[in-house]
Order: sequence, then structure tokens, then C-alpha cells
Amino acid sequence: MKQSVLGNTNDHPDTRLTGNNRDLARYDKGGFDPGRGIAWRFLWYLVSSLLFESAFFPLSSPKRTLLRLFGAKIGRGVVIKPHVKIKYPWRLDVGGHSWIGEEVWIDNLADVRIGSNVCLSQGVYVCTGSHNHRRPTFDLITRPIIIEDETWICAKAILLPGVIIQAGAVVAAGSVVVKNVRARDFVAGVPAKPCIN
Ligand SMILES: CC(C)(COP(=O)(O)OP(=O)(O)OC[C@H]1O[C@@H](n2cnc3c(N)ncnc32)[C@H](O)[C@@H]1OP(=O)(O)O)[C@@H](O)C(=O)NCCC(=O)NCCS
Repeated sequence: MKQSVLGNTNDHPDTRLTGNNRDLARYDKGGFDPGRGIAWRFLWYLVSSLLFESAFFPLSSPKRTLLRLFGAKIGRGVVIKPHVKIKYPWRLDVGGHSWIGEEVWIDNLADVRIGSNVCLSQGVYVCTGSHNHRRPTFDLITRPIIIEDETWICAKAILLPGVIIQAGAVVAAGSVVVKNVRARDFVAGVPAKPCIN
């Protein structure tokens, strides 16, 4: 175990402190199941990088079909802009008439459920995965994310693992959401907090 100038941080009683001895060769995925075999995942990787994410493939309708073919539940009239990245379509559920803007990244190692009439603006990052930084094995942690009906997640906002954005809420541009957002709340900032509006 390595020592820092403050002593052995791994044994420190203050759990907010991180360890300093990550050994990524011992990385522990903790039995993580990607939900599909390697061939299917590789096929989606190819289809996504060559077709789905491409600016030369702008229409939403064929993209909805592709996502459904790969196991997503996609409602009617969902708009999908170019350069949208989706990790695992089979872990995605989007309700009708929602919009997914340019460069939205749905990094759904765990399930992501998006309601209907939801707007995810440009560059939103939906992050379902993290690591236990207090362990040398840097264990993978995954949590689902739920974005309920009629919410607006503004440009470049980040949703962290496990959060629920309740119906009708607005998350302002550039916010980092670390906790659940209550229905019809307007939250902003890092970490995102309710604003009186
Ligand atoms: C959510 C949004 C529309 C709010 O607009 P609004 O209702 O007119 O809100 P206001 O501008 O009156 O701001 C209300 C408060 O929130 C704060 N605020 C607004 N946006 C913020 C942000 N992104 N980060 C931090 N604080 C923010 C304001 O400073 C203000 O605080 P104050 O009352 O202390 O002065 C706007 O902030 C925003 O983020 N727009 C995103 C645009 C976007 O994503 N475009 C893509 C188009 S698809």
C-alpha cells in the first residue's frame, strides 16, 4: 500500500478521502452483464459508428427502426438528431414525441427510461456508470436513470448514475444533476439545486 504525505489515505477514517493506489490491471466489473453477446454488441458498434451517428443519415424514422431492431423501445414521433450516441439500445426506452438533440450521449450501461414529450438538448450526457474510487480494483458501479414525461434537460447538462428527473422538471444548461429532481422544479448549477423562478 502506498503512502502519501498525509499518511496512508486508504485507512483514513474520513470516507470522503479517496485511495491513492488504483491498480487498473485488477479492475473489477463486479459481474456486470452487458445484456447481449459480444457479436451483437460489435454489430451495434459498427452500425452506430458508420450509420446511426452519422451526419449523412439525418432522418429520425430509419434511426427509430434501427434502435428497435437492436432492442430499444421507441415511441412514435421520437426525433433523433445527428451525432447521438447510445451505448446499448436494448437498455433504452423512450416515450412518444421526445427529442434527442445533437451530440446527446446516452451511456446506458444500466437502463435509461425517458418519458414522452421530453427534450434532451444538445450535448446532454446521461451517465449510468461510475467507479468505487476508494478501492484499488476501481469497481464498476452502474445505476439506472429515469427522465419522466415533459421534462427539459438543457444543453450540456450531465445526469449522474441513479437520478430520477420527475415529470415536468427543467434542468438548466451545463448543470450536473447528482440527486433526484422533483416534479416541475427548475434546477441549475453544479451540483444542480432548485432555483426560485
Ligand atoms: C433553463 C433556462 C431556459 C431558464 O431560463 P429562464 O426561466 O428565463 O431563467 P432565468 O434566466 O430567469 O434564470 C433564473 C435563475 O437561474 C439562473 N440560471 C439560469 N440558467 C442557469 C444555468 N444554466 N446555470 C446556472 N444558473 C442558471 C439565473 O442566473 C437566475 O438566477 P437568479 O434568479 O439568482 O438571477 C435557461 O437557463 C437555459 O438553461 N437555457 C438552455 C438553452 C438550451 O439548452 N438551448 C438548447 C435549445 S434545444
